[in-house]
Amino acid sequence: MSNLIIRTAKESDFIDISKLAKKCSPMATERDSIYHIFTKFFQNTVFVIERNDKKMIGFLLGFISQVDSEEAYIHLLCVDPFYRKKGLAMDLLNKFFNVVGDKGCKRVSLITKPINQNAIEFYEKLGFKRSNNIKTVNLGGILAIKDYNGFGNHMVVFEKNISLK
Ligand SMILES: CC(C)(COP(=O)(O)OP(=O)(O)OC[C@H]1O[C@@H](n2cnc3c(N)ncnc32)[C@H](O)[C@@H]1OP(=O)(O)O)[C@@H](O)C(=O)NCCC(=O)NCCS
Repeated sequence: MSNLIIRTAKESDFIDISKLAKKCSPMATERDSIYHIFTKFFQNTVFVIERNDKKMIGFLLGFISQVDSEEAYIHLLCVDPFYRKKGLAMDLLNKFFNVVGDKGCKRVSLITKPINQNAIEFYEKLGFKRSNNIKTVNLGGILAIKDYNGFGNHMVVFEKNISLK
């Protein structure tokens, strides 16, 4: 869409990220201090989409692993409900893949809640594969890693190889 721009974050963006995140259920929301950490210390791997009038309508919060420089992680991804199904999340992901790929990353991982069917379908369409291990459980047809984020907090774990273009 021609009246929209995608850019890397600046520190003050955490305020608008926090507001937009509230429209992105069932995605998890964070304390503002967590958004601030992303926009201050990880701003080269955080992307926002804004309109001409500077209204933010999408964001991606990601970073490169500090223990494996070939792995990047997406913490949160959100597009304003009014602007969905227009390819904007895909644009945010592609920006992220390009930036972390140029820095040597070969894989991107992320997790999502088993109830977030929209996100699961979206990530599968974008070529993410589910990670399975001995803790994998079948939750009504959704394969998730049992207790991934603590007791009872099962998560779907996705990974995409970005070195294969
Ligand atoms: C998931 C989300 C980010 C997708 O954003 P979006 O801008 O609508 O996605 P896009 O338009 O870029 O979609 C890219 C592709 O995925 C498909 N897709 C998008 N949403 C989908 C859905 N709900 N079900 C199935 N496919 C979907 C699109 O059809 C498109 O495929 P196509 O190019 O073949 O048409 C958005 O729905 C959202 O913000 N959800 C709430 C927050 C959230 O759950 N985030 C993920 C967990 S952190």
